Amino acid sequence: MKLSCPILLGLASTALARWPEADGNEIRYSAVQGYFLQDEPDTDPNTFDYAAQNFGLLNRTYPTDGDSDAEGCETQWQRFARWVDYLNADCHRSESVRYKVLVMGRHGQGWHNAAESYYGTPAWNCYWAELDGNGTAAWSDALLTPQGVVEAQRANAYFKTRFEQHGMPFFDSYYSSPLSRCIQTAITTFAAGLDLPASRPFAPTIKELFREGISIHTCDRRSTRSHIHAFAPNFAFEPGFTEQDELWRGDRGEGETDAHELARSKAVLDDVFTNDDGTWLSVTSHSGEIAALLTALGHRDFGLSTGQIIPVLVRAEVVGRTPPTAATTAAPGFTFEATCNAPPVTSVAGTGCVCSSSSASATATPALVRRL
Ligand SMILES: *[C@@H]1O[C@H](CO)[C@@H](O)[C@H](O)[C@H]1NC(C)=O
Ligand SMILES: *[C@@H]1O[C@H](CO)[C@@H](O)[C@H](O)[C@H]1NC(C)=O
Repeated sequence: MKLSCPILLGLASTALARWPEADGNEIRYSAVQGYFLQDEPDTDPNTFDYAAQNFGLLNRTYPTDGDSDAEGCETQWQRFARWVDYLNADCHRSESVRYKVLVMGRHGQGWHNAAESYYGTPAWNCYWAELDGNGTAAWSDALLTPQGVVEAQRANAYFKTRFEQHGMPFFDSYYSSPLSRCIQTAITTFAAGLDLPASRPFAPTIKELFREGISIHTCDRRSTRSHIHAFAPNFAFEPGFTEQDELWRGDRGEGETDAHELARSKAVLDDVFTNDDGTWLSVTSHSGEIAALLTALGHRDFGLSTGQIIPVLVRAEVVGRTPPTAATTAAPGFTFEATCNAPPVTSVAGTGCVCSSSSASATATPALVRRL
């Protein structure tokens, strides 16, 4: 391939310009294949570990190799970064197409994860998760367990080696879910020990819609804005971030539908792609939410255990006007979730709970169970 213009490494990322062509228009996303192991059908998400595999970056060549690396001593990350910059370079890109590298990390193990393991998933879902805790452990807007902290420290150490020894580009922007376990994970992963340049500081922004699927569980209810600010004073809030959690409806027994979560995940991607001119973006979020983001991006399913991280090369293209009823308003929204009003008599994996107040399973007979 003939390269007809200079590649301005890093420069394209610093400008604050938005993407005017995308404003009010429909953006279609695709996860570009051929760059990361996680895109390959043979890669098993259950055994894959980012820290054993250079985040999954494939060893390959790019058409821009050799352009300014006559010695051939650049790393895989440096050569990949040059290729992504080439794809975005002003002089030959289409105004309707942008590329970004999204590096999405799931929070480390939280107290709600530990409790789900302790009680078993059916009993957790139908009773325990609706409480704030059990007297020993608290899991409303859960914090990290000691194991979760270790998982985030491991990510910190791994990013350090990538940045310092492997030429992985620094992030242009950092985003986090508003839930405490993600904020705590992002702080432990990025706030200390990394020699970040002054032009690429760890200056994260909290975005409401990077939060976990909004079930009736108390671990999906966020804290107030003031509480979050006291917990993480260096995190900025996106415009319009409310004091109270206005989305959680667990007290009414209603949880978010999958369709709603997918639609609002597309909406937050549209927001980021339209308003953030950076190329390398870090997102700290959740298993369910990252799964929804991957679906919105056209990536194959790739489940992450706690503390795992997945990068995706995203191609975004403006394809036309946004239909007036698009985005979250068109999706069904929230739906009733059944619960037991006391610890269940028994719970069967894959089937559900038998509530103590009746012999039927909670999920089969919602009328018999308490609405929270
Ligand atoms: C790429 O090569 C390096 C060094 O040989 C190796 O450690 C790494 O696992 C390889 N990555 C992939 C995705 O095969
Ligand atoms: C509360 O749950 C935790 C698991 O997160 C468990 O270790 C602990 O024993 C439980 N406490 C009680 C009083 O059951």
